[in-house]
Amino acid sequence: MKKISIIYGSTTGNAQEAAEKIAKQLSEFSPQLKDVAQCSADDFTAADCLILGTSTWGLGDLQDDWYDMLPRLKSVDLSGKTVALFGLGDASSYSDTFVDGMGELYEFFSGKGCEIVGAVATTGYSFDDSRALVDNEFVGLPIDADNESDLTDERVSSWVQNIKQSF
Ligand SMILES: Cc1cc2nc3c(=O)[nH]c(=O)nc-3n(C[C@H](O)[C@H](O)[C@H](O)COP(=O)(O)O)c2cc1C
Repeated sequence: MKKISIIYGSTTGNAQEAAEKIAKQLSEFSPQLKDVAQCSADDFTAADCLILGTSTWGLGDLQDDWYDMLPRLKSVDLSGKTVALFGLGDASSYSDTFVDGMGELYEFFSGKGCEIVGAVATTGYSFDDSRALVDNEFVGLPIDADNESDLTDERVSSWVQNIKQSF
C-alpha cells in the first residue's frame, strides 16, 4: 500500500483541523499526520504521496513554519512524488490574496518535479484574486474556516474522493 503523509502548517489551528478531517477520510491508508514545525526532510522523502496544507498570513504569505521548512527541502530529491495541496484562507477579508500560500506551495513542489493532483474548480468560491490559480482552477482545495465552515466537511469529503483515485 502507498505511504501517505499529511503535513500541515497552522498558526491558530484551522489548517490542523482540516488536516485531521482529511486523515479521518483516508483512514484505510493509515496516513501519517504531522505539523510541519515538527518535520524533517525525511518525513517528505519517506512518503509516496504527500498531502500538504498551509494557511495564508500577512498579505498572501505562506504560514511561518513552511518558510522554515522549504529551504531545508531545496536540495532534497522529491521528483515523482504525488502531491495534493489544501489551503486555509479568508475569502472575505483577504479577497485579493485568497489562499495564496497554497499557490506558493504549488510553485515550490511542482518546481521539484512532483506530480500535483487534486485541482478544484472555482465554482462556489467568492473571491477576487489568488496566486493558487492555474488555468482558472485552484491548484488544490481551498477551505475558508472563517466564513464558510459549514461547507468544509462537504468540500473535504468530495476532494478526498477525488485525490484517492490518484494514490
Ligand atoms: C493577520 C491575518 C492575515 C491574513 N492574511 C490572509 C491572506 O492574505 N489570504 C487569505 O486567504 N487568508 C488570510 N488570513 C486568514 C487565515 O489564513 C485564516 O484565518 C486561516 O483559517 C488560518 O488558519 P490557521 O489557523 O491554520 O493558521 C489572514 C488572517 C489574519 C489574522
